[in-house]
Amino acid sequence: MPTTAAAQQVSVRSQAVTARLTRAAIFLTVGLGAGVEAEAKTRQLCADLSSLVRGVGFRAADGGLSCILGIGADAWDRLFGAPRPRELHRFREINGVHHAPATPGDLLIHIRAARTDLCFELATQIMSRLAGAATVIDEVHGFRYFDDRDLLGFVDGTENPVDQDAIDATVIGAEDPAFAGGSYVITQKYLHDLGKWNAIPVEQQERIVGRQKLSDIELEEAAKPSYAHNVLTNIEENGEPLQILRDNMPFGEIGKGEFGTYFIGYARSPSRIERMLDNMFIGLPPGNYDRLLDVSRAVTGTLFFVPSAAFLDAVTPEPAAAATAPFPDSSLRIGSLKDEAGHE
Ligand code: HEM
Repeated sequence: MPTTAAAQQVSVRSQAVTARLTRAAIFLTVGLGAGVEAEAKTRQLCADLSSLVRGVGFRAADGGLSCILGIGADAWDRLFGAPRPRELHRFREINGVHHAPATPGDLLIHIRAARTDLCFELATQIMSRLAGAATVIDEVHGFRYFDDRDLLGFVDGTENPVDQDAIDATVIGAEDPAFAGGSYVITQKYLHDLGKWNAIPVEQQERIVGRQKLSDIELEEAAKPSYAHNVLTNIEENGEPLQILRDNMPFGEIGKGEFGTYFIGYARSPSRIERMLDNMFIGLPPGNYDRLLDVSRAVTGTLFFVPSAAFLDAVTPEPAAAATAPFPDSSLRIGSLKDEAGHE
């Protein structure tokens, strides 16, 4: 067991949510099999994950390998029970002008690296630990496309918060002390109708996104329609912007005619992302929806809690120990979170 001081240090260590965007990524959405053995194997993976990442990552020290493990609402109840992250729930389907389906997923494994081989090796190692206990429901291998563009041809990620702003946007603090250092993540797999998109004149595409296509310069406020993507996803509370951190990746299969964007958004509260989704799919006001959705169909929708790295490290295969560990004293976490991440 760590000493109190050490526990204070590690208790707010987040997973690599704010890691830099990379050239390659693999997204695995995983379903757990029935039974206590599957649960024990998954808990064991939680505890071993950081060691697996070190083992694979050390083989290419400049490869920037990182991995984030997210846990869905149903899986949380099976694996850890109470207490439960305050805002953890299943992804809520949206029936607006367009449809955002909710699809199954117990675990999310988000692997990033400068090189595909690192991502592939880690994904293989992780799934071999879960052999017989879990199956991959959805697998996406993402790549960077030219200068960080999506397959619609626009640079994607420009307005992401960085440094302390990224931490403030994604890392839970005093609002849920038992889970400080954690985050929430929502993923959606979108398939684009590129024929339809490419038939739209570039000036209108720019109004739909709210930015210039070639230069990536934001349109002036007066030139943006109220349905522009960057108007509908720009949300505030008490005059302060509510930010999220995105690491979308293009993916596709040419033979299948599949051209997609894997949306992945991290936030300290899922309600931020849900508000953006409502604005996009239902519209603000209702009916004033995001025209990107006329050419982009959401085919998956999942929500996960991302426990802190310290939480994962302290998980044990036995359920009872995992439910009470690793944070019996939440006050320690708030204090050290202040030191490390600057939260109030
Ligand atoms: C088809 C899927 C999507 C595509 C192709 C897409 C593409 C883009 C592009 C090109 C930008 C402008 C550059 C930038 O700041 O990154 C952008 C901005 C943004 N997107 Fe998306 N996006 C998609 C889905 C979503 C979803 C589902 C959300 C949230 C629920 C979202 C949230 C945002 C936010 C917050 C911004 C920054 C807006 C600002 O403050 O300027 N996007 N997206």
